[in-house]
Amino acid sequence: MNSMDPGVAVSTFADDIFKDQVFLVTGAGRGIGKLLAERLARLGAHVALCDLVAGRAEETAKVIAAGQGSALALTADVSKEEDVQRAVAAVLDRWGRVDVLVNSAGSYGAAYRVTHETPVEEWDSVFASNVRGSFLCAKTVLPHMVTAGRGRIINFASNAGRSVSPLLGCSYTAAKTAVIGMTRHLSREYARHGILVNTIAPGPVAGERVSELIDGEANGAALNAQIPIGRLADPSDIVDVVLFMASGASRYMTGAILDVSGGLILA
Ligand SMILES: NC(=O)c1ccc[n+]([C@@H]2O[C@H](COP(=O)([O-])OP(=O)(O)OC[C@H]3O[C@@H](n4cnc5c(N)ncnc54)[C@H](O)[C@@H]3O)[C@@H](O)[C@H]2O)c1
Repeated sequence: MNSMDPGVAVSTFADDIFKDQVFLVTGAGRGIGKLLAERLARLGAHVALCDLVAGRAEETAKVIAAGQGSALALTADVSKEEDVQRAVAAVLDRWGRVDVLVNSAGSYGAAYRVTHETPVEEWDSVFASNVRGSFLCAKTVLPHMVTAGRGRIINFASNAGRSVSPLLGCSYTAAKTAVIGMTRHLSREYARHGILVNTIAPGPVAGERVSELIDGEANGAALNAQIPIGRLADPSDIVDVVLFMASGASRYMTGAILDVSGGLILA
């Protein structure tokens, strides 16, 4: 296999590409956000990481500290304004600015069930973490980015928001579609302030979330069969694209929705 082979995880970012840049990564206690935070720290960034579940952000921060990286762990619910304000204040207190916000936090409810069987509580909590949370984090960092005259916001949509979720219900599809709309709106509003706002739309990613949702080997194979590249994403496949979105290489890109779905979404 060579480096152009879609089955190979290859990453080529200079060691110090994000040296001294300050990132706030939400949902960094597990999955993609966790791997992203660890990679950013290895690439020289100061990484504030938050998670709703107590202890998760601290675990990620410990891994980063063990590798001599710079991390600040925060337990916060991104759907609560006071939590977000407290978290952003802690980042400003530590490093004086937020250069890049990555809104990775988000819940997903139960495995697929039809809309008329979806409890309203699930709708509310999926919207709270994905939509309200991304909005609140953006709202809180934006004044500081405007003053700085620069910044990046990277949101997480999903193949669900680009089409329909194969694994989850209408609350998730609708919430991720809202994230796309919010990205477009913010990109138009803040480009003149030097702030770029983009969304990644991953397809299904191997990890705890998808394992919790797919029921057995047969379902896993059925999901793989829908993906032209023939496999789920590895978390590193997603993280590498986020690193590109945070880097100078994407300096002319704002309002973009990047499908990273192994060909599942073709739009
Ligand atoms: N895993 C996939 O297949 C997949 C596919 C497409 C999009 N995505 C999106 O990518 C992002 C990361 O996914 P993942 O697979 O790493 O998820 P994950 O479920 O493994 O981790 C998400 C983390 O976010 C935290 N979180 C949830 N609600 C929160 C809140 N209100 N405040 C703070 N933290 C909260 C959770 O505690 C968890 O640690 C999510 O936005 C997800 O919707 C994932």
